This record gives sequence, structure tokens and C-alpha cells, in this order.
Amino acid sequence: MEPMVKDRDNEKELWQKAEELTGKLTLDEKIGMIHGARLFQTQGVSRLGIPPLKMSDGPMGVRQEFLPDQWKAVGNTDDYVTYLPCCSALAATWNRTVCYEAGKVLGAEARGRGKDVILAPGVNLKRSPLCGRNFEYFSEDPYLTGELAAAFVQGVQSFDVAACVKHFAVNNQETERLWMEVKIDEAVLRELYLPAFYAALKKGGAYTVMGAYNKLYGEHCCQSEFLLKQILRTEWEYDGVVISDWGAVHDTQAAADSQLDIEMSVTSDFDAYFMAAPLKKAIEEGRVKEEAVNEKVTRILALMMRLHMMDGTRKRGCYNTEGHRQTALQAARESVVLLKNEKGRLPLSREEGKKVLVIGENGNRTHSDGGGSGEIKALYEITPLMGIKKLLGGNAQVDYIPGYTSGQKEKEAGQVNWQQASLEQGGGHTQRQEDKEAFAKERTRLLRQALELAPLYDQVIFVGGLNHDQDCEGSDRADMKLPYEQDRLLLELLSLRPDTAVVLLGGSPVEMGRWIDRADSLVWAWYGGMEGGTALAEVLYGLVNPSGKLPESFYKTHMDCSAHCLGEFGKKGQVEYREGRLAGYRYLEAWGVEPEFCFGHGLSYTTFSLEGGAACKRGEKVCVSCIVRNTGNRGGAETVQVYVSSQAGERGGIPVVFWELKGFEKVFLEPGETKNIVIELEGGLPEGRIALGTSLKEIRMEFSL
Ligand code: BGC
Repeated sequence: MEPMVKDRDNEKELWQKAEELTGKLTLDEKIGMIHGARLFQTQGVSRLGIPPLKMSDGPMGVRQEFLPDQWKAVGNTDDYVTYLPCCSALAATWNRTVCYEAGKVLGAEARGRGKDVILAPGVNLKRSPLCGRNFEYFSEDPYLTGELAAAFVQGVQSFDVAACVKHFAVNNQETERLWMEVKIDEAVLRELYLPAFYAALKKGGAYTVMGAYNKLYGEHCCQSEFLLKQILRTEWEYDGVVISDWGAVHDTQAAADSQLDIEMSVTSDFDAYFMAAPLKKAIEEGRVKEEAVNEKVTRILALMMRLHMMDGTRKRGCYNTEGHRQTALQAARESVVLLKNEKGRLPLSREEGKKVLVIGENGNRTHSDGGGSGEIKALYEITPLMGIKKLLGGNAQVDYIPGYTSGQKEKEAGQVNWQQASLEQGGGHTQRQEDKEAFAKERTRLLRQALELAPLYDQVIFVGGLNHDQDCEGSDRADMKLPYEQDRLLLELLSLRPDTAVVLLGGSPVEMGRWIDRADSLVWAWYGGMEGGTALAEVLYGLVNPSGKLPESFYKTHMDCSAHCLGEFGKKGQVEYREGRLAGYRYLEAWGVEPEFCFGHGLSYTTFSLEGGAACKRGEKVCVSCIVRNTGNRGGAETVQVYVSSQAGERGGIPVVFWELKGFEKVFLEPGETKNIVIELEGGLPEGRIALGTSLKEIRMEFSL
């Protein structure tokens, strides 16, 4: 995907027009354009044909309609949408084209639903496996995140809709997210936590960016001189629109002076927002110059012109098309990660599966309506059970039992509005502890039932993992343990039926230590969107050859993650990123800590060889090439990954060395087919060695220049 190239003449004309139009506006009109006049909308100026700016949450789809001034769904029947796999799932495809196509669906549907800005994608790094919003984010790696997010943004914006890259910056935990402060070395911030934003804004060309709730270097991110003025506007020369997170502005003067353009919030006293009546007063009293407002308005008008909102040439959108569903399905197929497959357990045979037992609540439940602001009203959602039944047709008996309970049904009875509750509580806390006692008895009954029935079936498929009680905005997990005593169930089930196909869903890894040795097969299926169940069934029964790769380390426990064992996470008030550069897999490599499954890992039903590798300089760039051969007897895809070694100081006189991802390419090959691939590495000439492999642990060759 090439970086966005702007047409200079057009740009000049656009800014001139935007400035002229700004000059025609009264102060009241301008003020109306720079803050929320509804929960998801600003004020337009009808006398000059300036429309309001309409926003909606993403990234898995366009969120349902809310009342203008209350966090209550309108209850329309026409706001069902295509449900895309979550960003972590998209990242597991390691496929820029898939991300671009997914972005295109989101853009088309946003237009179809009459939106101008889609509040996605989230490009914060997965610093800890416990962050409640991990499922909305791509990866722990800045390069992988940036590449895929840039493609996603380009897809969204191809429909004259603005992507809004969020949350700028270091919004890596939910605990006390509204006011916690991140302490981080500036070099590390620039090396790890900012590049994905840079890629999404510069390479992807995102027209808008959302500031984060948290503080950095003593400033709230949405009014931060350092982040918005110095980095964004000065160093990156970003001329797009900066939107605040909802309720993330704290001060009129600071917001006006910073490069924030639009203040959005959560309350319905719109005139009382910091950049509403209080700002007008500050201007009238001479404390803030009107020029500051003019700049913001001009940028908003330029955005509207970029989106063709006022010239009658804007692209139309559409939603819930068959094509969109196909894109969701293809993305889901490529996102499924085969983590383990011993004794050739998978794929399952359709001929031998005459009686199939699906165990586990995630087999039979939907997820689209959870997770916080990423929730959507999916047109439909194929569950794993439905996918398996659909695939096996009438030729097999497929039965389902829950095996465990999350208490979902009980919760549904007394549902509360998530967003309101979270914001009232002050934004983020550590996961609520569930009432273990209340469910213990029921779980024992369900476990017994599973153990009684499992031996009676030809095939047993367990589908468990997390749900949006854990993967949820506004709270972090307390640890990586599988909830609802699934460990106990898996341990006993696998002792009885080691051939059970184990499938887990979730946006972040879980502890597997208690049962992983007993499982022959393990599939990770994320939140796979409306066709997630179809894709999963196709992988389980071999109609699709899995090609997903982990975009993050699957630690054995969260204490193996450097954010926890070296740095701080989930603390209230202030959190220090003491791990420095050694975040994620960089720490595991440097300290020789074994994860359960490493970054980049993912198996296939076929095998691949990498041959004839070479690395060469091309000017200031380095290109790595090799031939990939499908050496098995099924068509499939391999992702070649290029890592470069880096050094982070010394320990006991020995250099601390680790690998960093600098390039990747996914190739599809029929049996026996070969393809020559050339990968240009990110950044300049590497100082260290270059490694080529199919995961961080499967390095097949090394070079030095
Ligand atoms: C979230 C944003 C979201 C906004 C609007 C905030 O609480 O942090 O990601 O876009 O709400 O729903």
C-alpha cells in the first residue's frame, strides 16, 4: 500500500476556500462547529450550506443510532450492519489487502448510514494482555499495527468518510483511564508507541485523529501541547482534524490553545462544553484569540471539502450488501490461528463426524453487542455452533451443551447501559470480580453433563475463551486466567477425550498451562464478525486452510509480560512504563522467557519451505528476498516475516539483544507452487543482523549486510 499522495494544487485551493468560508462565519457559528451539539454530532451552518459533522463508533461496524442527548439506543430497525472481525483478528491475517477491504466495508457502511467520521481504528499497542480494549487494537508491535491500520484507513476513506485514528497516545489501560498519567521515556514513546499513529496518519492519510483520555507528561492528551502541537502539527505536519475523546477535555484555555479542533463529550449540556459558551466568553474577554478558533474551523471545513460534503460529488455508500458479508467472511477465514495440531487431529473429517458434540458457551452465543463503544447491532452473527451445523448440513447430528456458564442469561435480565455506567464511575476500573459462589454449583452440574456425554460422540469440539465481560472498554482484566472455571472443565474433558478440538475466542491471550499439554489441537478464533462461525467451521473441517498468525505474544501468565514484571500496569494515578524498549516480544527475546505461543506463530495444514534467501542494499533501503514453496499437498498461505536484531544495553557485561519485526509478506500457494518474494525493510539500514522466518521462533535464515 503506497502512502497517500496529496495533489498540491488541489490542496492549495482547498485551504484557500476553507479560509474564505471561515471568514464568512460569525463567532457563534464557529463555536457551534467545534464542539458536540449532540452526542455524536457537531453544529452545521445552514445559511452557508455547511452541514454538521456526523460521527459514529467502529471499528467492527457502524454503531447503532443513539438519541441526540441520551446514551440510549433509538431502537431503529434500519441500523443493523455488517459485523466485521475485530482489529486483533484483522491483525492476525497479516494481510494488508484484507485490512483494506475491511476498511472499505466500514467506509461504505458509514456512508450508507449517513456518517462523516468513523471513530476507528484504534491503534494503541497491546502493551499488556490484560487491557480491556485489546480486542479493538491490532498488535503489540508498532510496525505490524501501522502497516495494517494504514491499509484499513485507506479502505475507509475510499468512500469519502474520514477514519478517526484513536487514542492518541499511550492509552494502554482502562483502569482510571480518564485521569491516569503515563510516565514513559520520550525515546521509547517515539520508538514504540507513536509510529503506528504516524503510519495511520501519514501513510494511511487519516483525515482525523482522536486524543486519549489519559495524561502524558503532566498534560491531558486532548489538550497536550507536546502531543498535539509539537509532535502532530509541527513534527508530523499533520493538517487533519483532532477530535477529543468523549469527555476528555478539562480546560477551556488549554483546549483552545492546543491544536484540538473538536470537543466531544458525554453529557447533554452541550453549551456548557469547554469549547462552547465558556470559550466564547474567553474570546470576548480577550483571554483567547479568535484566531485559534478560526484555525480549528478552517481545518474542519477542509475536512468537509476532502470528504466532498459540500460540492455534490460525494460517494454514496451502502450497507448490508452480500459483498460486505463476503469480505467479512474472507477476513474471518484468514484470521483464524491454528496454534497447535498434534497427531494430525485437524482438520476433522466430515465423513467420520456423524455425531458431533459442541461444548462451551462461546459455541452458542453472540458477541457483537458487547465490548463498549465498539458494540454494534449486527445484521446477524453466525455462532460456531451454527457454522458447524451449516457446514455439516443434514448429514450429521450436531448437539450442543454449555459445559460452563458465564451467567450471561442472568445478566441479560438486568442489563445496564455500559457506557453511561463506565463514565459515571469515572472511566475505568479493574475487572469486577464475579460472584463465584453463585455459579459454582451450576458449573459442576454442567461439567458432569459434559463428561457424561463426551464419550458418546464421534467428534467433540470445545468452544470457550473470553467474552465481552472481560474484553471490554472501561475495565482491565485482573489476570489471564480463563474465566468460569473453564480450566477445570478442559482438564477433565481432555483427559477423557484428548482428541477434543479446542477452540478459544477472545481479544487477548489466556493462561493455558493447566491443560495445554493434554490438548492435541488448539484454534484461536478472536471475535470473528458476523461470519466468524462459518469461517471457524471451514477451518475445523479443512475447507479452509488456516493462515492466521499471532499478532502478539501469547504469554504463559501476565507476569511474563514486561509491562507487569518490569513496568507497571493497571495502577491508579500514575503508571510507569519501566520496561522501556523491552515491550512485548522484545522482552521475551532479550530475557529468554518462553511464551506459550510466540509472536508470529500460526500453523497450516500444509508445509512451506523458504529457499535462496538474500539481503541487499538498495540505496538507503534494504531488501530481503526468498523463494517460498508449498511443500505439502494442500493450497495454503504462509507469512514470511523479517526481523532485525537490536540491542538494548547490557546485562552483566552481556549485550541484551532482541529481534524486531521490520517487514512481512503473505503469499498464497497451491501445492508444489513457488513464489519469489521481495520485502523492503522498514526504516534505514539495520545495524544488526537480519532474520527471515515464519514466526519469531521459526527463523529459517539469517544475514548480515
Ligand atoms: C471511547 C472512544 C469512543 C467514544 C464515543 C469513548 O468512551 O474511548 O473510543 O469513540 O467513547 O463512543
